[in-house]
Amino acid sequence: MDNNIYHFFATTPKGLELLLADELRSLGATDAAEKLAGVTFTGNIELAYKACLWSRLANRILLRIQQFHAATPEELYKGVQSIAWDAHCDPNQSIYIHFVTVQSAISHTLFGAQKVKDAIVDQFRQQYDVRPTVNREMPDISIHVFLHRDIATISIDLSGESLHKRGYRLEQGAAPLKENLAAAILLRAGWPRIVENQGSFVDPMCGSGTLVIEAALIAGNMAPGLLRHYFGFLKWKKHCSDVWNQLVSEAKKQCKPVVAKITGYDNDRETVAMAHANVLRAGLRGIVHIEKRDISLCIPNSDWQPGLVVVNPPYGERLGEETHLQTLYVQLADQLKKYFQGYRAAIFTGNLDLSKNMGLRAERYYSLFNGAIPCQLLLFTLSSEWFIDRSIAAVNERRIRKAQRWLAESQDTAVQMFINRLKKNLKHKKRWAHRESITCYRVYDADLPEYAVSIDFYEHFVLVQEYQAPQSIAKDKALQRLQSVLAVLPDVLGASPKDIFLHYPNGQMNLSAQNLDAFYPVTENGVKLSVNLQYDGLSTGLHLDERQLRSLMMKEAKNKSFLSLMTESGTVNVFAALGGASMTEAVVASDFAVQWTQYQLQMNGFSTEKHRIVKDDIAHYLSNAKKPFDLIFVEISKQLSEEINVILQSVVDLLLPGGTLYWIIRHPRCKMYNNRPEKIVENITKKMLPEDFKGNSTVNQCWKISN
Ligand SMILES: C[S@@+](CC[C@H](N)C(=O)[O-])C[C@H]1O[C@@H](n2cnc3c(N)ncnc32)[C@H](O)[C@@H]1O
Repeated sequence: MDNNIYHFFATTPKGLELLLADELRSLGATDAAEKLAGVTFTGNIELAYKACLWSRLANRILLRIQQFHAATPEELYKGVQSIAWDAHCDPNQSIYIHFVTVQSAISHTLFGAQKVKDAIVDQFRQQYDVRPTVNREMPDISIHVFLHRDIATISIDLSGESLHKRGYRLEQGAAPLKENLAAAILLRAGWPRIVENQGSFVDPMCGSGTLVIEAALIAGNMAPGLLRHYFGFLKWKKHCSDVWNQLVSEAKKQCKPVVAKITGYDNDRETVAMAHANVLRAGLRGIVHIEKRDISLCIPNSDWQPGLVVVNPPYGERLGEETHLQTLYVQLADQLKKYFQGYRAAIFTGNLDLSKNMGLRAERYYSLFNGAIPCQLLLFTLSSEWFIDRSIAAVNERRIRKAQRWLAESQDTAVQMFINRLKKNLKHKKRWAHRESITCYRVYDADLPEYAVSIDFYEHFVLVQEYQAPQSIAKDKALQRLQSVLAVLPDVLGASPKDIFLHYPNGQMNLSAQNLDAFYPVTENGVKLSVNLQYDGLSTGLHLDERQLRSLMMKEAKNKSFLSLMTESGTVNVFAALGGASMTEAVVASDFAVQWTQYQLQMNGFSTEKHRIVKDDIAHYLSNAKKPFDLIFVEISKQLSEEINVILQSVVDLLLPGGTLYWIIRHPRCKMYNNRPEKIVENITKKMLPEDFKGNSTVNQCWKISN
């Protein structure tokens, strides 16, 4: 084995340098450093071979052999001659010179390449009387010369030809993506993590299939180099075939079966045939499904787990007409909004204007190049936000406008007290929330008893919940105060009237009207959640006062079995799942809670195989439950608070030795009876109280019971 340490330069399309440096680090390049259109790193030959075999992003892996000043043809010739070329190749082998010049006196690439070739050939001729031949296609030795500000860097191109040519794409439609750009799009869109969680993949305009094939290679942990037969080092004199063969055999063993559903559609028959052929060549028969289908018919199959939609629609540079494309982009967006909720989507386009009409808001975008064409990669989470019933926004807005008219007429000056208090709270809590990266929090909680409401931010949405007014306050007075509160909120909070929701005490919900499509996407601690704001009487699904508990569950769940009882939305299970729980189970009381829990798990890429949802009555569940758990979370609502203590003991019996039960009573006055003195019981209410609920006397109780 050659143990020399070499300097390498991995080239890549502009814009991919950061990703490539990360990839090389993951292969063992500890000093990988990004440069323009490439990454430098050092290491032994094994590391370079690994890069050739495993890199999804690099074009070429260059091994530097000499660097010298070359402002004139003579200097260039002399510098090249100073290299002992017979250490790299035999006189009867073929060579090819790839010459790149930037800001240098020798500015003509053909001339530069010719000079380098002459220097090499002359050296062989002098020593052996035989000269290597020049071969453009698959030469035995590929030599790379980079002349930058008159400094020549001479390298052996270990890749031989660009690594983006994996070998599977011999047929291509119009405007295909290069394979390494496709891989970069998938990495930026988070495909490795999505596929790890069994998410599915679809490209609705797959062209020659580059994105679907690369997605399958990533899903199967297949080294892209396994598909190639030619590399620049195979006939290099210093080639260590043992090292290479060992890497190849290890890579073959590391391939894993692809379970994710991976699908490509395109409406062009010939293109679909090409994609088919490419899929077969890539050895992905039965793994990738390709079909001729128009975008209007692209909907997820019922057996697909929500995952990733990636699409590279035509964008007018090389294909299609602008007006037709406008319709196509809108159609694409409609299809995504309607059928792909819970998926992530990535749109790669060279025409940002077209994507602006889609009515989708990108959460991130990256600037990349497709060849010379500047392009954007737009990333979206397809949530139900686009499905908000417009009439709800109108109801919210009407309510606020009405309150504002009332306030203007009544000239209620007392409200100034409320405004001052809210402003004070807001100043402090906004700063705190920003510092803690919290986007859903309480800003006001009946701090002034006359204004008996709580006010919460759920991202930019506002939820006002009215408390039951004390008997001492007349009903019409309470109503007027609520009007004043609503009237001033848009100004004080900087919120749009359509985004301000109101829940009344003892609000009645219309069970048949519940619809997950109308829920709002929010995030907490990196967890994606879907909250209810519009159905009064139904929980939001995200109790803000339990924020610390959720984060505790996330921390404690690693490698543990987790059970939640009686939560309405499975929110805490998603936290446990993301915390690395070995399995989770949610026992919920209604079909709607099953759907809600399932939806939230899927939004975060979890399947219900490992994360079970059981619809059952708690008493019935406990009387049949046999399987014990490491970590249990029970949330007891007001309605259940009296009877629940009776079944506390059966829940405790479900704990594994060393396990922990968190017992939350959403009722401040309900007592907790413990008739199991051998268990350690701790009241952690104060410890678990988040900053935005401090000083609140009606908080819920939290108990920790350790087995
Ligand atoms: C830019 S190309 C995609 C290239 C692909 N990423 C590749 O690497 O080969 C856009 C593709 O969209 C397809 N397309 C255009 N309109 C479509 C429609 N209404 N439904 C489905 N596919 C469509 C075209 O046939 C074309 O293959």
